[in-house]
Amino acid sequence: MVYQKNNFLKALNKQKTDHIPFWFMRQAGRYLPEYMELRKKAGGFLDMAYNSDMAAEITLQPIRRFEMDAAIIFSDILVIPHALGQHLEFVQGEGPKLDPVRNLEEISKLNFDNFDKVLSPVYEALSKVRSGLKAEGYNKTALIGFCGAPWTVACYMVEGGGSKDFINTRKLAFSDPKAFQKLIDLLVDSSAKYLINQVNAGAQALQIFDSWAGALDAQSFSKWVIEPTKRIIDLVREVHPDIPIIGFPRCAGANYISYANETGINALGLDQSVDTNWAAQNLQPLVPVQGNLDPICLLTGGDALKIAAEKIITDLSDGDFIFNLGHGIHKDTPPENVAKLVKIIRGNS
Ligand code: CP3
Repeated sequence: MVYQKNNFLKALNKQKTDHIPFWFMRQAGRYLPEYMELRKKAGGFLDMAYNSDMAAEITLQPIRRFEMDAAIIFSDILVIPHALGQHLEFVQGEGPKLDPVRNLEEISKLNFDNFDKVLSPVYEALSKVRSGLKAEGYNKTALIGFCGAPWTVACYMVEGGGSKDFINTRKLAFSDPKAFQKLIDLLVDSSAKYLINQVNAGAQALQIFDSWAGALDAQSFSKWVIEPTKRIIDLVREVHPDIPIIGFPRCAGANYISYANETGINALGLDQSVDTNWAAQNLQPLVPVQGNLDPICLLTGGDALKIAAEKIITDLSDGDFIFNLGHGIHKDTPPENVAKLVKIIRGNS
């Protein structure tokens, strides 16, 4: 095994770290005034994500303030449906809007015709971030590439946007499992291709976001979360056998155990509902864990933040551990609270 210099990569490879590595989901974004400044000039979110100079700059913004152990490329999980030909826009204040695909005919229209062309700015941005990190002296910050898991991306594709309960998607999976399987298969192939290209462009670790994994019963979890994730991991490993892959099956509860055992994932992202004591006993012996401060606790700050962060550190730092949140940073989070959390993690609060 290659000996890693970076603490984040060390933890993913189960090597001893000099300090607790950390990064935060959605660490680039609306809570940072410098991001809002750029967004005013840029137009919309997608214009920023598909402009490789801008995406690289936004990826570096939080690193300059907080010196995380990892940067995550500024993009979105919905660029895959977009690259497969589904109409996508981000309506300010409303989130993503897509033209829903709800039957075999609509699913069959998705294709790879413009796939590489649409996604090439993401690959360019990754290589720009790698050189940017080096040029600015952040030699200890690794770069993460990512995609959404097939289940979660399918939820947005079938609903045509966000939803509380993803009823149309779950209905399609039960009523026409063959059509739904076709959509999932397409997402397995496209996501694997996308992740492989991200590693080629400079990503040193990958994360698979399955934000809506918690919406499924145990049998469906096995079929629509575990199986497709395992297939993506197998495909990526055929090309990049040593790339560490973090899985984040949000709100999976006890299913985190089967996910860790069956997908072949290198590390587990934990949402805030997972008790860290339970995780230390039941998950950390299987794989390194990452998590899991409630983003609303970070938004709140004060003593609550210190107590919660220290409990996570106490419970998980005897094993392989990366500090993170249980979900993305909330847009109203004061950057001072993030600075305070960084001090706590670095042990000089
Ligand atoms: O973590 C990072 O800093 C990297 C960038 C990143 C974004 N989205 C940027 C973004 C990542 C990793 C994502 C993943 C993502 N996108 C997920 C999985 C994680 C999660 O949050 O559950 C999901 C479900 C999406 C889909 C998505 N993108 C939604 C539902 C929304 C609207 C809601 C919201 O938070 O605004 C987005 C938009 C989005 N993606 C923004 C950012 C910074 C906000 C864009 C803006 O208005 O400036």
